[in-house]
Amino acid sequence: MERPEDMKDGKLITLGIETSCDETAAAVVADGREALSNVIASQVSVHEAFGGVVPEIASRHHLKNINLIIERAMAESSVTPGEIDLIGVTWGPGLVGALLIGVATAKAFSFAWGKPLIGVNHIMGHISANYLAHSELAPPFISLVVSGGHTSIVEVTGYNECRLLGKTRDDAAGEAYDKVARVLGLGYPGGPAIDEAAKSGNPRAVAFKRVFLEKGSFDFSFSGTKTGVMNHLNTERQAGREVNVNDVAASFQLAVLEVIVSKAVNAAVQMKRGKLALAGGVAANSLLRKMLAEECGRQGITLFCPPPVLCTDNAAMIGCAAHYRHLAGGRDGLDLDACANLGL
Ligand code: KG4
Ligand code: ZN
Repeated sequence: MERPEDMKDGKLITLGIETSCDETAAAVVADGREALSNVIASQVSVHEAFGGVVPEIASRHHLKNINLIIERAMAESSVTPGEIDLIGVTWGPGLVGALLIGVATAKAFSFAWGKPLIGVNHIMGHISANYLAHSELAPPFISLVVSGGHTSIVEVTGYNECRLLGKTRDDAAGEAYDKVARVLGLGYPGGPAIDEAAKSGNPRAVAFKRVFLEKGSFDFSFSGTKTGVMNHLNTERQAGREVNVNDVAASFQLAVLEVIVSKAVNAAVQMKRGKLALAGGVAANSLLRKMLAEECGRQGITLFCPPPVLCTDNAAMIGCAAHYRHLAGGRDGLDLDACANLGL
């Protein structure tokens, strides 16, 4: 294939690798801001039959696919191994067996190609997706991270510095979506299924609990709302009443999103940051994006939303975060290990 004479054009080129859950992903990123390729192999069809991610199966599929995905990411970017400057990889948080495949692969490439290895925190990766989507965005800002494993409000004070303002005390938002979708028979993954079903439902049909916790707290709790859905379904079914799945999906979604939107926008207002950046798989949710846009508009906050493909797990966001860690002098050795419960 024909390729431009100098792909690099003086830019710092990062190969990003992501295997923390059920997506095997590799991407080539230029100067931290431009994805030259972003290849994602989803295992959704593999785990669908089990109604959730089976860790051991996820690891085996990562192992089977990782080299092929990296090869594709390299080919699609038209970058040669010699032009790669650094290798970034997610080392946590996530499923330990899944993380290990990415970390071991990144170490092998780092050693074979003689390139620096940069471990990336998956949550910092999700936040960094915003830098790829919005060239003008720079810290400080507030980030709302809503994924299958995490729900946090983070004050991003620098490309490599942040402060946790609040997080979920039980289920992550995506986890609650997935569990509610399962009891509603909407399949896996539940988030997109509820997003879709809710469009034809009445969000005021059932008044599920909105859990705000203590006044001023930026923490979340979704397990009560989730249990409320289960109790409602049991009561209705025992009474022989037919359940309108779309109404329940819409009512659950509104209960959860009202809390998320209120806390995230309040954080941006209280911290006087003026900018709110959305991150994580649930950030692909259409109603969340709409509600946040409306509330941010009312409060004079600028909202940043990456496109859905950069919200769910991908390696371009990891390449971006690795770029900024590298600029700050961050580097890991071949002793880098996976860390399932790595904090921010
Ligand atoms: O960030 P992600 O790909 O993986 C983790 O790091 O957890 O997030 C996956 C989560 C799943 O729980 C999935 O149901 C949820 O994101 N999700 C959504 C939507 N798309 C994905 N939740 C609500 N609405 C969506 N459109
Ligand atoms: Zn994720």
